[in-house]
Amino acid sequence: MTRIFSGVKPTGHLTLGNYLGAVRRWAGTDQHRADALFCVVDLHALTVEHDPARVRRLSRQAATLLLAAGIDPALCTVFVQSHVDEHARLSYVMECTATDGELRRMIQYKEKSARARAAGESVRLSLLTYPALMAADILAYGTDEVPVGDDQTQHVELTRDLAVRFNQRYGHTFVVPKATRPEVAARVMDLQEPTSKMGKSHAATAGIVYLLDEPEVVRKKIMRAVTDSGREVEYDREEKPGVANLLDVLAACEGGNPEELAGVYESYGALKKDTAEAVVELLRPVRERHAELAADPGYVDQVLKEGAERARGMARPTVDAAYRAIGLLPAG
Ligand code: TYM
Repeated sequence: MTRIFSGVKPTGHLTLGNYLGAVRRWAGTDQHRADALFCVVDLHALTVEHDPARVRRLSRQAATLLLAAGIDPALCTVFVQSHVDEHARLSYVMECTATDGELRRMIQYKEKSARARAAGESVRLSLLTYPALMAADILAYGTDEVPVGDDQTQHVELTRDLAVRFNQRYGHTFVVPKATRPEVAARVMDLQEPTSKMGKSHAATAGIVYLLDEPEVVRKKIMRAVTDSGREVEYDREEKPGVANLLDVLAACEGGNPEELAGVYESYGALKKDTAEAVVELLRPVRERHAELAADPGYVDQVLKEGAERARGMARPTVDAAYRAIGLLPAG
């Protein structure tokens, strides 16, 4: 059976981008067609300035939202990364497989480290080594497919390279995974700055729709989205990124094709109104279910505990095999 692994990082509240690019697919098709693991990757949240209490809170919230989005622990494994030691154990081996040059080439490292330096902040070493940990997350489970948004494909490509290199040097140990992306909305853009990705860790929030935003807030953010000069509703990501983004979001909500949808609209206002309503309706059941689940943290904790036990059992043999293959003496 196909093995799927993917994760979300608790560095901020989950956004419409996380939902359309990743979580919706995990809950929709992935968990039904494969043996799937979905992980709140909390170790990754420590790679930038963080507040410990907030990371804890956001980790529980992210896990609750995954369940609220319809991920069913009876069908797949839901857990928190730091509950399973195998991730950190294998991460070191991946650091010994990757090169300094490879990690420095990662776009996210370049962008985030430049931003931190410009703000006069120090850059944590873990920001550079992050993709080695991400490779460990994926490879520990013999993963075939990694459903992610566009911004993560470079990290999955690196994971493939590391798996191939390790297997060639030390003998076949890892399955070589591949990224899968959604047909539309693989990169949802910020509503105020449609040339940048909608990202949960951004400081300015007017362009970001959060999954737990009230309907009125969602409407306001979408109605105020930056569009482009001109009046024609056309799907042109280069020339009209704001309008193209709204068309992508609407198409993702309604199952249509953004180019075809463009022909239906005669004004930006009408497009915004329909997009706002479509997003409100898409998120309504998730918000409602989240409120129910948040009232029962004991249930979420139990799901995470069972998930971690299952995940540990799956990862252990692969990580042990990697330790042996690379030359570490087995204990006892
Ligand atoms: P993270 O937490 O930034 O995002 C979680 C998922 O949401 C997708 N995504 C988007 N998709 C479309 N449009 C957007 N604006 C948008 N923003 C985010 C991401 O592509 C991702 O699929 N490094 C990962 C977490 C991770 C991981 C892993 C993923 C750690 N280990 C192993 C897969 C497998 C990250 O920071 O995702």
